[in-house]
Amino acid sequence: MARVITVDGPSGSGKGTLARLVAGRLGWHCLDSGALYRLLGLAVERSGIGFDDPEGVAALARGMQVEFRGDAIYLDGGDVSLLIRTETAGNNASKVAAIPAVREALLQWQRDYARPPGLVADGRDMGSVVFPAAEVKIFLDASAGERANRRYKQLKEKGLDAKLSDLIAEIEERDARDRNRSVAPLMAPDGALVVDSTALSITEVLDLVLERVRGAFPDTAI
Ligand code: DC
Repeated sequence: MARVITVDGPSGSGKGTLARLVAGRLGWHCLDSGALYRLLGLAVERSGIGFDDPEGVAALARGMQVEFRGDAIYLDGGDVSLLIRTETAGNNASKVAAIPAVREALLQWQRDYARPPGLVADGRDMGSVVFPAAEVKIFLDASAGERANRRYKQLKEKGLDAKLSDLIAEIEERDARDRNRSVAPLMAPDGALVVDSTALSITEVLDLVLERVRGAFPDTAI
C-alpha cells in the first residue's frame, strides 16, 4: 500500500500549491482531484448533455479519456490545461460534483493514483471519503475575502479583467454548494491538522505541514 497525505479545503485556500510543494519535497505523486471534476464540467458543456441530467453526466464521467502529462491536462486527446482553470469551469465542476453517481464513477479512478512511494492528493473529500486511511490529513482554510483577494491578484497578473465583489460572491456560492451537498460535503476530516492560512504565507503553511509529515513518517527524508 502506498502512503497517502490528503489536503482538503475550499476553493482558493492554496491547497493545490501546498500539495504540489509537499509532493515535490517527498518525491511523491500528486493528484489534483478538482481537475477531474473540472474536466467533466467541460465535457458536459461540449456534449450538449444538460447539467440537470445526472445519469447522462455520470455516463460521460465513466467514458472520458483523461491524461496528465507534466503540467498539461488532456481531455479526449486535446490540451485543456487553461480552459479548465476559468471561474466558469470551477462553477461547472462544483455542479457535476454534487451528483452522487459522478462521485461514485470517479472514486476508484482517484484511488488508483495511490502508488509507491506515496501520493499527495488535494480536493474536498480526500481525507473523508477517497482516502479515509491516509496517514496524514490536512484541512487548509482561509476567509472568503482573502481567497477572493488572492484570486483577484492572480487574474490581474495574467492581464485578465476581474471584479473583487463578483469573485467574493462566486466563492461564497461555490462554498455553500460544496459544503451543503448530500454526498461527500467539504469538511475537515477526523484527525486532520486544520490550518487557517488567512494570515499565513505559503512558506509558513508548508513548515506547519512538514512538521506533521515528519512526525507521521519519521523514516522519510524531507
Ligand atoms: O479544487 P478545485 O477548485 O479545482 O475544484 C473544483 C470543484 O470540484 C469544486 O468546487 C468542488 C469539486 N470537487 C469536489 O467536489 N471534490 C473534490 N475532491 C475536488 C473538487
